Amino acid sequence: MAFLFNSDAERATIFAAAFARELPATPFITDPASVDPATIKYLLTWTAPVDLDRYRNLEILFSIGAGVDQFSLAALPGKVKLVRMVEDGIIRMMQEYVTLGVLALHRDLAGYIEQQRAGKWASRPVRQAADRRVGILGLGNLGLAVIERLRPFGFPLRGWSRSPRSIEGIACHSGADQLPDFLADVDILVCLLPLTPETRGILNADLFKALPQAACLVHAGRGQQLDAEALIEALDSGHIAGAVLDVTEPEPLPADHALWRHPKIILTPHIASVTQPETAANTVIANIRRHEAGLDPIGLVDRSRGY
Ligand code: GLV
Repeated sequence: MAFLFNSDAERATIFAAAFARELPATPFITDPASVDPATIKYLLTWTAPVDLDRYRNLEILFSIGAGVDQFSLAALPGKVKLVRMVEDGIIRMMQEYVTLGVLALHRDLAGYIEQQRAGKWASRPVRQAADRRVGILGLGNLGLAVIERLRPFGFPLRGWSRSPRSIEGIACHSGADQLPDFLADVDILVCLLPLTPETRGILNADLFKALPQAACLVHAGRGQQLDAEALIEALDSGHIAGAVLDVTEPEPLPADHALWRHPKIILTPHIASVTQPETAANTVIANIRRHEAGLDPIGLVDRSRGY
């Protein structure tokens, strides 16, 4: 039974070497036309192929990315396990990006860049990290890793998740009813939520209103979670002081979109975190071993939650 790899050639070379070394008995296939689809037990891909039904013995569909919102769960046969990519490379890059965003907002980097362009040498108000409360929306593996990376800076940290979590030294809130209390004490909000029907549009005018005056946003979840118009209004009114955005709807953002040029926004093109083939191959191989030993793979999607 074989593994079908549906991603770019550069990553394929690295994965193929790891499979040859670690799972020599599992054929590693990159050209689906070269095999009988019934022999495919594992598929790694970003989106489901249109002819997914042909893989009638498929047991695991591995997402090449951390997100699985690009798959239609309803269209996946019930016996197929869908697995998110949980790997060190993605985690490390997300830690870097969120740290970059939080520090850029904390030290008003957008304001200094604007001053630099205007040839203005002047200091701007400064606040100590101990007086800047950072709140993480989403306490999965990325949220937890980001919290560990932010701890040494001394920001008071808090977190919010769908279901209750307990993390040492972190004020944890959960569920829709505790969201307003969480937001009321957050100066920099970091969104790392998966895209689900519950989180679509969650970063909206009501949520911004629930944040304290001059709060900021780092958004590295999904573009469809953000109401861009509401954000621009909140920035223009001064209620929100700045935003670092890595995801938008649509992607790429059209050339005339207001998010491109807003002086209080730092925008990056969905690069916060990218699957690293060396570490991802280790993760996928470990998950195949787990599956073959009768254990659930790490990152197994709970179909009822959608992530
Ligand atoms: C990127 O957004 C991913 O899902 O890995």
